[in-house]
Amino acid sequence: MVGGGATSMIGETHRMAARFHDRYTLVAGSLDADPAAGRAFAVKLGIAEDRIYDDFAAMAGAEAERDDGIEVVSVLTPNNTHHRICRAFIDRGFHVICEKPLCTSLEDARDLVRAVRAAGIVFGLTHPYPGFPMVRCARDIVAAGELGKIWLVQAEFTPGWMSRPVEREGDAAAEWRTDPAIMGPSLVMADNGSHAHNLARFVTGLEVSEVAAELTTFVPGRRLEDNAMALLRFDNGARGMLWASTVTTGIVDGLQLRIHGEKAGLRWRLETSDQLTLYPDAGPARTLDRQETGLTAAGFIEGFANVYASVAEDIRALAAEPSGPREYAGVEDGAIGIKFILAAIESSARDGAWVDARLDV
Ligand code: NAI
Repeated sequence: MVGGGATSMIGETHRMAARFHDRYTLVAGSLDADPAAGRAFAVKLGIAEDRIYDDFAAMAGAEAERDDGIEVVSVLTPNNTHHRICRAFIDRGFHVICEKPLCTSLEDARDLVRAVRAAGIVFGLTHPYPGFPMVRCARDIVAAGELGKIWLVQAEFTPGWMSRPVEREGDAAAEWRTDPAIMGPSLVMADNGSHAHNLARFVTGLEVSEVAAELTTFVPGRRLEDNAMALLRFDNGARGMLWASTVTTGIVDGLQLRIHGEKAGLRWRLETSDQLTLYPDAGPARTLDRQETGLTAAGFIEGFANVYASVAEDIRALAAEPSGPREYAGVEDGAIGIKFILAAIESSARDGAWVDARLDV
């Protein structure tokens, strides 16, 4: 594990997710930007002293030399470091699990796609929502044609935790998220819009071909946008809307996906993540629960855990038969996500003009 130190927001979630299905053991780490803090925390987690590293480059080099070296690394550091940390491990043939957004520029995104393909490794991007049982169920229902041709897609992710200037009130996670040098060129489209965009693509199997967006900053003095509203055109002719916001006062999560096709519609919400509502053209709405799926758990940690388990399946399958459709976001999805974010920024700068969001990967 690289990043995910004692005070990090997402580290504990990854450690729980990795253990959940008994597929991973944490054996080595460079857990913190401050090496002493990282070492102390790694000792507490039970990592052997000789596999606690002061920085990721030392870890990649030393682990490659060991007969019992790591198989896969999880990269849970702030966005501007993902590219160089991932490269250090990909280039030595390690599999990679990386936090979203993939990176902060299209150039780095394309570079990672090329590197992953050249190395032939498994790369999982931790959008956790494709790991939720009812999201996978929704994907299967759409793929089976139950909604018919998709006409409308609406995705929103609007956690309101930054409605105040929390970055100036000692919140470290908010501090780096509002610093373009670390966060990249977008705040809320990258932090939350990327999840909504990935979720819409995962469930529908469609690509966003064009975007027209307005990005707004409400909290005075904030250097990046805290609200993003976008109109979408999909490659099959469907139309959509995507709303990402972090100034929706009082909202904890606010992730929701609605899809309507010529035959039926569906809706999934994070707040009721164990349920999926189907809206047939005629007759009453029908709510499905996870008895519909083979998966037994739902919720944020379990969603993450199912992504971890699916990556483990693919790592093992490299030595056997490839396993069916991918159950999680990969490096190509990450690159398409970066292209979407940059297209939305460009559109907003051009007063909402339609901008091409396609990326050949
Ligand atoms: P954070 O600031 O809370 O934690 C970052 C951790 O990385 C800290 O422990 C820090 O010391 C460490 N770190 C920084 N640079 C390092 C380096 N060069 N080597 C080793 N450790 C280093 O950040 P947070 O909120 O945990 O976010 C980390 C990443 O996870 C971001 O890319 C973020 O977008 C993503 N994230 C994803 C979520 C999801 O739902 N998939 C939810 C929250 C965060």
